[in-house]
Amino acid sequence: MTLAGDYELRRFRPSQWGEEGYGQTRDWIRAVGAGFYEKRRSEELVAKTAAAFVVDGRELTGAYQTGPVPAGALGPEVPVATFATFRKTLNAGYGALVPAHLVTAVTVRTSHRRRGLLRRLMTEDLARAKADGVPIAALTASEASIYRRFGFGVATAERRVTVATGPAFKLAVPTDGRVEAAEPEVLFDLAPSVFERAHRATPGSVDRQERYRHSAAGLWDRDGGGDDLALRAALHFDVDGTPDGYVTYAFRGWEHEPPTMEVRDLVAATPEAYLALWDFLGSLDLVRRVVWNEAPADDPLAWALEDARALRAEAAQDMLWLRILDVPAALEARRYGVDGSLVLDVVDGLGMAAGRYRLAVEGGTAKVSRADGELPDLVLDVAELASLYVGGVRATILREAGRVSEEHPGAALEAERIFAVERPAHCLTHF
Ligand SMILES: CC(C)(COP(=O)(O)OP(=O)(O)OC[C@H]1O[C@@H](n2cnc3c(N)ncnc32)[C@H](O)[C@@H]1OP(=O)(O)O)[C@@H](O)C(=O)NCCC(=O)NCCS
Repeated sequence: MTLAGDYELRRFRPSQWGEEGYGQTRDWIRAVGAGFYEKRRSEELVAKTAAAFVVDGRELTGAYQTGPVPAGALGPEVPVATFATFRKTLNAGYGALVPAHLVTAVTVRTSHRRRGLLRRLMTEDLARAKADGVPIAALTASEASIYRRFGFGVATAERRVTVATGPAFKLAVPTDGRVEAAEPEVLFDLAPSVFERAHRATPGSVDRQERYRHSAAGLWDRDGGGDDLALRAALHFDVDGTPDGYVTYAFRGWEHEPPTMEVRDLVAATPEAYLALWDFLGSLDLVRRVVWNEAPADDPLAWALEDARALRAEAAQDMLWLRILDVPAALEARRYGVDGSLVLDVVDGLGMAAGRYRLAVEGGTAKVSRADGELPDLVLDVAELASLYVGGVRATILREAGRVSEEHPGAALEAERIFAVERPAHCLTHF
């Protein structure tokens, strides 16, 4: 059998249509589409995807067969495994924007899987990112059972909500500003600036890739196709008339009972904008149900409704996964709401971030030093440290799950206090 070492890995920057190297980019994009069982992409869409990749500054990696390939099968120019990375910022609490290495487009062709290709791609890539000085890596996962072995932990969750609207919907609190309908096209320019404000205000947020503005504007539908003619949009303006939130949504069609509106994207820079946009959705005439797949796990809407049972939520699911590559750099890059000190004994199966560290927080900033001779307060895997990192998961829950070991009573609660963030952590960026 062929092993991971028998494939050639090629790393390259995407090329745009008409440029040298475009064929390699095109084959790579098609391989990713096949890996996720997407519809075949037209030439035009492949070119559009490549152009967006260039804007994102992605690096693409493909694993290529070096041995003979049977005639009629996909040729040696089509990668059997794909992997991509790009750099964005992560909001790690109190507005601290930390450089993050985003991993995406991970596929291994079925006929070449379980030969160690993912392990080779991932371990080589994380080592390169660490050598490059990036403190943290991030991904969003298709399955929750793949990435913990590489030191990734779940940092934020999302859930699908179904909200009864029409007469059943009433907020118990006043909203401010105003919501107005808009053509989705205006979001091509507006969505990035509204998102930027939301990103700076939301722990756990990851800055968005280029495709989002095209989708928000209705120029890139969910199948990756062209114009999304079903898409509608509304903007929230604050009391000074500045747009600080938007929602895009699509009607499911009159054949659906009850009449249902689907939220595609809802970005709010302030809690006021969030509630006002929901108030707008809740009062759409003829609609009796609004669904949203990417709602926060800790959703203020549930508490703002007159009848909290108007909101039904499915179980929260993992959304953002983080991997700490450098413990002192990651913890010092964050900001904190309270002072405190903890000795953390960090276990790391890949050996990249293992060690005993003292985290000392004063005045909102941390100093992290090696603490080899000291007794630890907590012993935890690097995956759990990632789960605590943006305050999206409570340390006492991880202790009760047996994932964090408390070396003396109260240590987990102290960690929870130190890692707490100023607003509920949520990530609205799938990548
Ligand atoms: C998931 C996928 C990338 C794995 O690739 P692969 O090359 O077969 O993985 P490897 O052979 O390197 O295996 C690495 C480890 O992950 C485990 N693993 C791989 N896929 C897994 C899965 N779907 N669920 C649980 N564990 C998995 C392997 O058992 C192996 O474990 P070990 O090293 O601890 O023994 C591949 O199956 C795939 O492309 N799936 C479809 C697309 C997808 O889900 N991509 C992930 C997007 S986030």
